Amino acid sequence: MLAVNDLQKSYRVGKTSFPVLKGVSLTVDTGEFVAVMGPSGSGKTTLLNCISCYLPADGGSILLDGRDLAGLREEELAAVRNRQLGFVFQDFLLLDGLTVMENILLPAIIGGAMSQTVQARAEQLCQVFGIGAIQNKYPAEISGGEKQRTAVARALINHPLLILADEPTGNLDSRSSRAVIRSFEQAKQMLGATIFMVTHDSFAASFCDRVILLRDGVVWRTLEKGGMDRSAFQDQLLEAIGEMSREEEP
Ligand SMILES: Nc1ncnc2c1ncn2[C@@H]1O[C@H](COP(=O)(O)OP(=O)(O)O)[C@@H](O)[C@H]1O
Ligand SMILES: [Mg+2]
Repeated sequence: MLAVNDLQKSYRVGKTSFPVLKGVSLTVDTGEFVAVMGPSGSGKTTLLNCISCYLPADGGSILLDGRDLAGLREEELAAVRNRQLGFVFQDFLLLDGLTVMENILLPAIIGGAMSQTVQARAEQLCQVFGIGAIQNKYPAEISGGEKQRTAVARALINHPLLILADEPTGNLDSRSSRAVIRSFEQAKQMLGATIFMVTHDSFAASFCDRVILLRDGVVWRTLEKGGMDRSAFQDQLLEAIGEMSREEEP
């Protein structure tokens, strides 16, 4: 479903070019919940922004459902972003002047796809994520966890192929984080969603099927959860992260 192959990206600062992604290759299968972890500055957000088509890559390819995103024109990219991708950000990015329900419906309205079916899907998403009772409230009137669950529902409204999330639990306490991760699990189990999440939180990552560790611009190692229970997987993640940071020291 998603295939990133030998992705390269540098930032130019003045006359100097700083390579950030130095040949990242990875795949995400349909229905998988995958996390990317790595030290701060390892290029996680850059990777996500390239996959989101917000940043043009310098080399390599990104195939979404077999289609190379690099070759698309601006209008085609806008359509991919609106219909095939759903976004969840660390700081929620809800519109303060719209209710929870209106925020959830926004991508459908922007895509010109409003209908009774979409309205019914929004109601269903509210039920699944336990935000039905607050659907007429405004963002200022709800908790951080509720805001992020609203953002997850909004990301799913257009039936995207893939949900991209950048540190979705970064601004939440542990209880709210758990509720947001639960909403990703429900999106996967009940709606067949595919989720690609960047996080530095090993607790959040331990709920994933697979965790990709990024270091120094390349994939350092991939860990599969398999049949392991969550806390054993978290221990394994912490051990690998420790090993990765020790290797990094000169
Ligand atoms: N717009 C930019 N211009 C120049 N350098 C950038 C820019 N964005 C990020 N960087 C640099 O690229 C590196 C990777 O950043 P980022 O992808 O945000 O890492 P992460 O999300 O893993 O913390 C960092 O060293 C950062 O300072
Ligand atoms: Mg980041």
